[in-house]
Amino acid sequence: MAVVALVSAKGVGVTASALALALSAPTRTLLAECDPSGGMIRNGYLQGAATAAIGLHRLAAAHRSGTLAEVFEQHLVPLDQAGGRLLLPGITDPAQAASLAGTWEALHTLLRVMEQDGFDIVIDAGRVVVESATRLNELHSPAALVRRADVLLLVVRGSAPSVASAAPVVKTLREDLDGHGTGSGALGLLVIEDGPYRPAEIGAHLGVPVIAALPHDPATAQILTDGGRLRGKLSLAPLMRAGRSAHEQITLAATRRRLQLAPRASWSPAGVSHV
Ligand SMILES: Nc1ncnc2c1ncn2[C@@H]1O[C@H](COP(=O)(O)OP(=O)(O)OP(=O)(O)O)[C@@H](O)[C@H]1O
Ligand SMILES: [Mg+2]
Repeated sequence: MAVVALVSAKGVGVTASALALALSAPTRTLLAECDPSGGMIRNGYLQGAATAAIGLHRLAAAHRSGTLAEVFEQHLVPLDQAGGRLLLPGITDPAQAASLAGTWEALHTLLRVMEQDGFDIVIDAGRVVVESATRLNELHSPAALVRRADVLLLVVRGSAPSVASAAPVVKTLREDLDGHGTGSGALGLLVIEDGPYRPAEIGAHLGVPVIAALPHDPATAQILTDGGRLRGKLSLAPLMRAGRSAHEQITLAATRRRLQLAPRASWSPAGVSHV
């Protein structure tokens, strides 16, 4: 199980990709909609099924009154009929983002508890909000979640403008992560294949490993962002099928990352001493 955060430089498909991953994962999954510019899934994919009485914006007050852990699960809604995929709906107004500044750390702890309970955690962290060329903005973004993800995916399209706008964001993310102790080894790309550039070229150009790719599939993406129904089964759509293999590759990247961070001694089989 892993905590995966998705970000972008511009609105290139973070929410649709996060939904594709959460809905196609074979595991129990919690999608946390932490985009500081506002959540879309409540009125998009869920078509108003979740009321504004629940969601991320209610957690800041709960945190201040010391009831966050108690009420957290009341703010999760099912994303699928079987209920194995859950959503923490996002804020309903960007003005609420600043009130969450003191809550992200506590939310990170709760998401890790869910992960230990067997959930994969997918975080829609929206567009990267920078404070300077070397730092993420702490007040208006879920920087604490972005920095602590096992895998941090910068979503980019295979077009020149998308790759160009990703370059300065890569630089800021690297500097910020390096400045926060754990290094930038969690950073990777999720490429939406809709332009002339192939994933490997984009990875080489940006100097960031490509962890997974998703196809350009406007019909399915529109269902994920705006709601509605596909003609065929959603699970058979190209985007969802690719979501399953992307999930595998992301899980692998998370495992590699954990091994990287694990203290060397814990790698040794019991009783084997090193000379
Ligand atoms: N794989 C895809 N193939 C085709 N179109 C896509 C794909 N993913 C997303 N889109 C489309 O791109 C647009 C933006 O998608 P989405 O809302 O997911 O982006 P975002 O990065 O979350 O944007 P924002 O930063 O504004 O929240 C939508 O019209 C969506 O349907
Ligand atoms: Mg979005």
